[in-house]
Amino acid sequence: MDERVITTRELKDDGELDNTIRPECIEEYIGQADVKENIKVYIEAAKMRNESLDHVLLYGPPGLGKTTLAYIIANELGTNIKTASGPSIEKSGDLAAILSTLEKGDVLFIDEIHRMPRFIEEILYPAMEDFTLEIIVGSEGNTRNIKIDLPPFTLVGATTRAGDLSAPLRDRFGIVSKLQYYTVEELAQIIKRTSKVLGVGIDEDATIELASRSRGTPRIANRLFKRVRDFALVKGNGYIDKDIIKLALERLKVDDMGLDETDHELLLAIINKFNGGPVGVEAVASAIGEEVTTIEDVYEPYLLQTGLLKRTARGRMVTAKAYEVLHIKYDELTKRKK
Ligand SMILES: Nc1ncnc2c1ncn2[C@@H]1O[C@H](COP(=O)(O)OP(=O)(O)OP(=O)(O)O)[C@@H](O)[C@H]1O
Ligand SMILES: [Mg+2]
Repeated sequence: MDERVITTRELKDDGELDNTIRPECIEEYIGQADVKENIKVYIEAAKMRNESLDHVLLYGPPGLGKTTLAYIIANELGTNIKTASGPSIEKSGDLAAILSTLEKGDVLFIDEIHRMPRFIEEILYPAMEDFTLEIIVGSEGNTRNIKIDLPPFTLVGATTRAGDLSAPLRDRFGIVSKLQYYTVEELAQIIKRTSKVLGVGIDEDATIELASRSRGTPRIANRLFKRVRDFALVKGNGYIDKDIIKLALERLKVDDMGLDETDHELLLAIINKFNGGPVGVEAVASAIGEEVTTIEDVYEPYLLQTGLLKRTARGRMVTAKAYEVLHIKYDELTKRKK
């Protein structure tokens, strides 16, 4: 289990805190203005027509609020939400069982939908399109197809990798929304909200400092807040100011930009072992002992977003900005370390 604080993956101890600070209605959901505005309109229209909301696919890096938004959609629709995750649906019966519990207008949330087996996807097609469940009953040699009508429902799928979804599945979502990294201002708003919910005071400049070190990711902002709160209690008087943030994040080895040791290791490996790149992601992965998918889903998106890393046809390359951030002298001419 990865216990690094900066990880965007959900950690065991996120659970309890998550439930208290997770926004429940769309007005409390901060940022993602375009996605939010559109979804608000679609929900309103579906309600006016008394129809189920079209199926929604949410995609984007981990921790940006896909699960949160799925719950909010159900809440705003005033319906129930049933949840499942791609890898947990192993047999067609698993999916059939979930589908047959749905009531009119319900939201079925499938997390990590790209990890659902292909033959299960095929059961989902008629369910999404015509609200019918087609199953095979009987034993070998004596089977027949039966069709069961399902009530209209809304499938909300979440994935960190929209590219891994099969085209027929992707095409069956009427609403496809990409979540973006949050701005420092938006994260600051999220941190303020968390501070209120948890009843822990924080200075304005401390809020900005924490927001700018949270990798554009609400999950990280909230998790850092929780850790910083401990430092404030033990090393200070419980109130969070900028000094406490600095002390705590130094201890947690999170730098000014929110990069942690693994980010540094990744950039340094490309510089020192591969001359700054271009280098294939597999080689980088084995140099730092991480999985390719972890690098692609968790580390790279933010490094690309902040312009420290570049993806070229020949592989990954670090940028001049990365040298600057790592305090390594850079030769403009050779595009290499001096
Ligand atoms: N827009 C937002 N406003 C306020 N808080 C948010 C927002 N988005 C996410 N959060 C907070 O961040 C936490 C992580 O969000 P969430 O679990 O929804 O991410 P996710 O995209 O589903 O991640 P994963 O891909 O790992 O499943 C939530 O517990 C919630 O408190
Ligand atoms: Mg999630």
